[in-house]
Amino acid sequence: MPSTFTYTFDTPLYKGKSTFNTGLFINGEFVDPVDGAKIEVVNPSTGKVITSVSAGSAKDVDIAVKAAKQAYKTSWGLKVPGTDRGRMLSKLADLIEKNADEFAALEALNVGKPFGVARMADVASTIGTIRYYAGWADKIQGKVIETNDEKLSYTRHEPYGVVGQIVPWNYPLSMISWKIGPALATGNVIVLKPSELTPLTALKLAGLCNEAGFPSGVINIVNGYGHTVGQAISEHPIIEKIAFTGSTATGRKIQVASAMSNLKTVTLELGGKSPNIIFDDADLEQAVKWATRSIFGNMGQNCNAGSRIFVQEGIYDKFLSMITDAARSLQSATGDPFEPSTKHGPQVSQTQFDRVMGYIDSAKTDGANVHIGGSRHGSEGYFVQPTIVTECTPDMKIVQEEVFGPVAAVIKFKTEEEVIEMANNTVYGLSSAVFTENSSRAVRVAHALEAGQAFVNCLNWVEKNMPFGGYKQSGIGRELGEYAIDMYTQVKAVHINVGLKI
Ligand SMILES: *[C@@H]1O[C@H](CO)[C@@H](O)[C@H](O)[C@H]1NC(C)=O
Ligand SMILES: *[C@@H]1O[C@H](CO)[C@@H](O)[C@H](O)[C@H]1NC(C)=O
Repeated sequence: MPSTFTYTFDTPLYKGKSTFNTGLFINGEFVDPVDGAKIEVVNPSTGKVITSVSAGSAKDVDIAVKAAKQAYKTSWGLKVPGTDRGRMLSKLADLIEKNADEFAALEALNVGKPFGVARMADVASTIGTIRYYAGWADKIQGKVIETNDEKLSYTRHEPYGVVGQIVPWNYPLSMISWKIGPALATGNVIVLKPSELTPLTALKLAGLCNEAGFPSGVINIVNGYGHTVGQAISEHPIIEKIAFTGSTATGRKIQVASAMSNLKTVTLELGGKSPNIIFDDADLEQAVKWATRSIFGNMGQNCNAGSRIFVQEGIYDKFLSMITDAARSLQSATGDPFEPSTKHGPQVSQTQFDRVMGYIDSAKTDGANVHIGGSRHGSEGYFVQPTIVTECTPDMKIVQEEVFGPVAAVIKFKTEEEVIEMANNTVYGLSSAVFTENSSRAVRVAHALEAGQAFVNCLNWVEKNMPFGGYKQSGIGRELGEYAIDMYTQVKAVHINVGLKI
């Protein structure tokens, strides 16, 4: 039997115990993986092991998928009234809220997010998103379409059945809510893989599913690696739809695996290299604050991060000096996520730390200037200083590739035309932002940018009832809002002959 793990928090911001089971959650219970494998879970602030959790394999995925399919046949799908599905989602949101501080503490421990941010952003938005989809569950409907008098024609929005969901490590809990909210509201059953780096809040959540009233097998959570569990989900012939959030490289593999197996429907939310354009006439102080939050928030580990900051020449020097001050003040607020003064934590893992430092090195090699930061902070854990790179040219890796760390490339521009050209010059198209007090320019530029999100005088201000997703190589499909309901249903056209004899 898999074991229950208890972690005792004794910190300035949170004192308490967190208890969760470390097994795979399949068919309503925690079980050991067939092969008995484990993954060590590391605290990125110290580099030390917190605990280890069960790691599944393709065999466990198969067991989970079959349990899910059985649950779909007997106790879920459209045979359960939407109101009942919604009530269970609401109950789940209530249970997360009841345990909100514990969830935030686990996220701070395992991801390195400042505790207050985890509580006010990650956990609060998770609760909000699940409640939002609870409200949708009994409002999913097709249309009656007039054709002719001898026929009754209508559409039905039916669930896929078993859906596979793979979530990333940068927002472990809230990305689960983006996935399970619409999937369950529409009547699907789930096999979900958390990131192997950040499984703890998923395990805590798994422990609440039965209490929320979900029948066994409706929600299955299989921890493990991408190349084993993720691959098995992508290839499984019974899974009809897969939703993935993560890197563009992995998204490509998932689409290939889908194509080579059963052509499951694929939605992907992938990387970004989002342009943040600041015109001479912007409210400078606000632009600096939003830009800072957008690139350094969550330690830059955000697909939506405004990592290319284009600043018009008239305010370039002033902007650079102000954002440099902001980076410096974050440097002095870097440290333990459970200290009240901490605003900047570590990168999630040694691998990510190395990757970010590699990009900083590449910028130097390519001839860019590291204006501030660029080094490790402290001697333990995976802390990287908030970093600003200037003097970049469009072909440099630091301008083209997603760093996924606290590294901003600041680039000077002259004209609107030129900056739209530069902003669009990327394989990505997730987010974009324009700062200007001129409303006609704001709208014109927002419309010209090739991105799924265009923000005006803000950035990364995502709403649970607005769609979220990418253009170009940033993804396929949309999450959140009513748009996500479409992504978890397939439309059946029903034609009923009420008179024609042939
Ligand atoms: C806004 O920008 C347009 C050019 O796009 C310019 O003609 C107009 O005068 C500007 N409006 C203000 C109030 O500055
Ligand atoms: C964005 O810029 C690219 C060039 O980089 C251009 O081809 C494209 O037309 C632009 N998109 C819009 C909508 O202006």
